[in-house]
Amino acid sequence: MTPRDYFYTWSSQAGTQGAELVGGEGAELIMGDGSRWLDMGSLSYQASLGQNHPEVVKAIQAQAGKLCLAPPNADFQAKRELAATLLSLAPEGFSKVFFTLGGAEANENAMKIARLVTGRLKFLSRYRSYHGATLGALALTGDYRRPPLEPALGGVIHVLGEDPAILEATMELEGPESIAAVFMEPIPGANGVHIPRKDYWPRMRAACDAHGTLLVADEVLTGFGRTGRCFGFEHEGVVPDMITVAKALTGGFAPLGAVLVHERVAKHFETEVLYAGLTNYAHPIGCAAALATLDTYEREGLYSRAACLEPTLQEELSKICQAYPEVASGVRGRGLLAAVDIAGDSGFWERLLAALKEVRVLLHISERRGTAILAPALNMPEEQLADGLERFGSAIATASNKG
Ligand SMILES: Cc1ncc(COP(=O)(O)O)c(C=O)c1O
Repeated sequence: MTPRDYFYTWSSQAGTQGAELVGGEGAELIMGDGSRWLDMGSLSYQASLGQNHPEVVKAIQAQAGKLCLAPPNADFQAKRELAATLLSLAPEGFSKVFFTLGGAEANENAMKIARLVTGRLKFLSRYRSYHGATLGALALTGDYRRPPLEPALGGVIHVLGEDPAILEATMELEGPESIAAVFMEPIPGANGVHIPRKDYWPRMRAACDAHGTLLVADEVLTGFGRTGRCFGFEHEGVVPDMITVAKALTGGFAPLGAVLVHERVAKHFETEVLYAGLTNYAHPIGCAAALATLDTYEREGLYSRAACLEPTLQEELSKICQAYPEVASGVRGRGLLAAVDIAGDSGFWERLLAALKEVRVLLHISERRGTAILAPALNMPEEQLADGLERFGSAIATASNKG
């Protein structure tokens, strides 16, 4: 292992070694040794157009030549156009955008907006969720990444399980008039792709309405077509009060996040001060990258394409489960987001990682959660998708000693 002068994230440093990345083409990553890896996970779920998309690269280059730096409260074309585009994608009634540099910051700022508007301090979110690594967003997070850093932000309550009655009862018991906002991923993504019960979001919306609590849809992972619609909450027949986005907003080509805010919330700040801001608020490069990315999703019909490819993805994964039921079971997902439950002893997981390395496929494998999560680029050609799934199947076969 070669020691580096920078930290690797979420890892003890001594046991971690990155891989030399020199370029990319579509969904393929090109490594320092010339090898090509097929990315079936869209990096950290942001690379919905893969690498090197010419339109996005061109837009970034053009913006850099025209206007590369701007103070937070400057008006410029890309910022105006992006806000208008985002609001046109949101449900009717959304009227303002607050820009950030990523997903955690989008949630942080949604928390601040909720506190300022409601005058309340508490938040509710669920276990098996991830909302970001900053202390506020981490306080919302309901997985193993929070406890080592507690106490993070006080006043965040977590609910467990798939039954909306638990959420309703928890709100009642906590004193519903004290809860500023409920934060929820439409599909808790990185924690295992858990599709909500049909009545979860409608009952959560009703409970929020009953108590004057705001509902925030964290669309950082699900937003912009991952689930086959622009936003994941669109499957639930419910309109939230705020929507947080990042990742696929720019396809990962530049760091940018945003909070989309409904008029019933935004109007508070017509006369009250919005105590929130960032040096690189609405950075021109991020805005240009987002505009080109959103335009590409639209022009290439990538949201509906993800919906059309959902059966193929799930059927192929189900075939793998049928062939290796002792290690792979239960496929679930929506659009081009799918999880397979994987069970095996630590030897199996080691063999699986080695086999995936052998076939040069990247996806989100977690022994801790017992899942393999696939989230291919929304524009991945069908033959490449089939090839990636076949390679994943062959890695499962090898790891279960049937290869
Ligand atoms: C649902 C969700 N919210 C928030 C975040 C945090 O986003 P970022 O890493 O851009 O801060 C993530 C990142 O994985 C996420 O999946």
